[in-house]
Amino acid sequence: MKRKSWKEPVQVSEGSYRQIFEVGPKVLGKLLKLTRTKNYGPFRLKHWMKTYTLLKFGTLDVNKQALANYKRLMKMDLGSLRENFARLIGIRGQGNKSILLAEKIKDFNGTQSKNLLETGPIRNEAFWKRLAEIETFFLKNHLPFFNLGADNIVVQWTDKQNCKPVFIDFKRMSPRSLPLQPDLLLKSRVDKKLRRRFAKLRNNFQAKNTPLDKRLKNSEARLLSRRRNSLLAQPRRLLGD
Ligand SMILES: Nc1ncnc2c1ncn2[C@@H]1O[C@H](COP(=O)(O)OP(=O)(O)OP(=O)(O)O)[C@@H](O)[C@H]1O
Ligand SMILES: [Mg+2]
Repeated sequence: MKRKSWKEPVQVSEGSYRQIFEVGPKVLGKLLKLTRTKNYGPFRLKHWMKTYTLLKFGTLDVNKQALANYKRLMKMDLGSLRENFARLIGIRGQGNKSILLAEKIKDFNGTQSKNLLETGPIRNEAFWKRLAEIETFFLKNHLPFFNLGADNIVVQWTDKQNCKPVFIDFKRMSPRSLPLQPDLLLKSRVDKKLRRRFAKLRNNFQAKNTPLDKRLKNSEARLLSRRRNSLLAQPRRLLGD
């Protein structure tokens, strides 16, 4: 979509909780959606976001909580891992109408970096080495950082050969922000969950010499490819061939 001015924000992405707008050449704004639709087996239920986030994360202002989590993370001794977390700039507005401003992660060619779910498997050694270093850091600190879905990690290509993981979502980073999972107050449970989630990322997205469909079985990535296929199939059906 062509924009007329930066005063007219254009939506560039979305997650299950927030819509992502481009509010400047280097800045994205995140706004909570009004409702959250969830599948429960064959049923689909629409929840008001306010009640949903209050139950799920213990807050009405997910953005504020994410910013607080980010600030706590930045106070830690991250060293060079700092560059693997997208900078949060601040918040405009309040409550479920707040807009969280974040640095837009871009590739060397200037386009917004894609998340791991969109790129599919990555065959870059440095990328996986860095991700392992981040895992070690989280484990050392028993940090309950659980924004570890492939859609919460963007793959930033710094040149044609090199890419690195950048975490862009900070909603889930403390036992307080996950009140429905009290077992996470135990360090051993945090560590176990972290290991499982990182192993899942490697299993699904670390390119190996096996065919793509075997590598991605039962994974988020396969789900995505199914979604892609159904999108491709639709216009063909409509045309009647
Ligand atoms: N700082 C950023 N730089 C580049 N892309 C981003 C950035 N922040 C978000 N995105 C893109 O927007 C998508 C949704 O963002 P985000 O994860 O913040 O939304 P959410 O609704 O809170 O997510 P979830 O569905 O994980 O709860 C991401 O998957 C990513 O592709
Ligand atoms: Mg997200």
